[in-house]
Amino acid sequence: MKPRAALLAVLALAATVARAEIPEAERRSGYHDMGPSVQAMQDDDAANPGTLWLLQGEALWDRRQGAAAKSCADCHGAASGLAGVAARYPAFSGVSSRPIDLEQRINLCRTDNQKADAWAYESRELLSLSAYVARQSRDLPIAPPADPRLAPFLAAGADLFARRQGQLNLSCAQCHDDNHGKKLAAATIPQAHPTGYPIYRLEWQSLGSLQRRLRNCLIGMRAEPYAYGAPEYVDLELYLMSRARGMPLEAPGVRP
Ligand code: HEC
Ligand code: HEC
Repeated sequence: MKPRAALLAVLALAATVARAEIPEAERRSGYHDMGPSVQAMQDDDAANPGTLWLLQGEALWDRRQGAAAKSCADCHGAASGLAGVAARYPAFSGVSSRPIDLEQRINLCRTDNQKADAWAYESRELLSLSAYVARQSRDLPIAPPADPRLAPFLAAGADLFARRQGQLNLSCAQCHDDNHGKKLAAATIPQAHPTGYPIYRLEWQSLGSLQRRLRNCLIGMRAEPYAYGAPEYVDLELYLMSRARGMPLEAPGVRP
């Protein structure tokens, strides 16, 4: 599709009548919108490029670092002990007085427990350890915590999802609630469930976080993306996890 035709297709989406949130029985992971070859790549650890990051994450888990000279394993034991953790993040942090996502939680252990510098967002190290921690929750259902302190942030995320923004004056919901399954240029619009993160995206030729994915969508909407780590992303992540409640985690997923 030519750029102009793609733009017209987007504007046609905006004109559609808003539906409500997707009923639970109709929810589907982006996995089911991909072709069989990309699905096979995700399913087979030997073919899933995310495995390279997992291996590095496994090595980092055991490496003593920072002024405390402690490894993740020194405090947490086997990584399998963190099974289920990725399925219930973002979670409320007393330190930040707001929810933090899994990457931010890992960085908190870097700075407070290892006494080392925080890793940059999207750095190889942070992605590797997030993938390794998330992998421990593969096939477990997404289970956002029932923590009343999260309520205002969840509401803010839901609000952001429904808010029209950017030069195209589109909301996330217009694509992902109202027009999922339709084609946009070469892509099928998925329902936007955060089941596979961090994902190996073929377009990126790299692993990337959910924040990077959200950033891509904001740029697609011709909206100003937030800086990595911005509270808006975490609120959106919180809402997406709550919207995907009960769906199994696939991390590390593969996406086109
Ligand atoms: C113009 C339509 C459109 C809008 C508006 C849009 N997206 Fe997307 N989004 C897409 C498409 C298309 C994809 C899949 C991209 C691909 O495969 O190339 C996607 C992918 C995603 C995914 C990845 C799902 C998966 O299976 O991994 C998430 C999460 C997501 N979007 C969230 C959002 C959020 C949050 C917003 C609002 C800030 C938003 N999107 C706005 C079209 C849109
Ligand atoms: C000095 C001990 C120590 C080290 C080293 C450490 N952690 Fe932690 N970690 C903790 C403690 C204590 C908590 C629980 C904090 C709390 O309950 O709020 C925690 C919490 C976590 C959580 C959230 C668990 C949950 O149930 O919400 C994750 C994920 C995590 N750590 C990952 C890591 C990773 C990855 C590393 C290595 C980079 C690491 N930690 C290094 C002590 C440590």
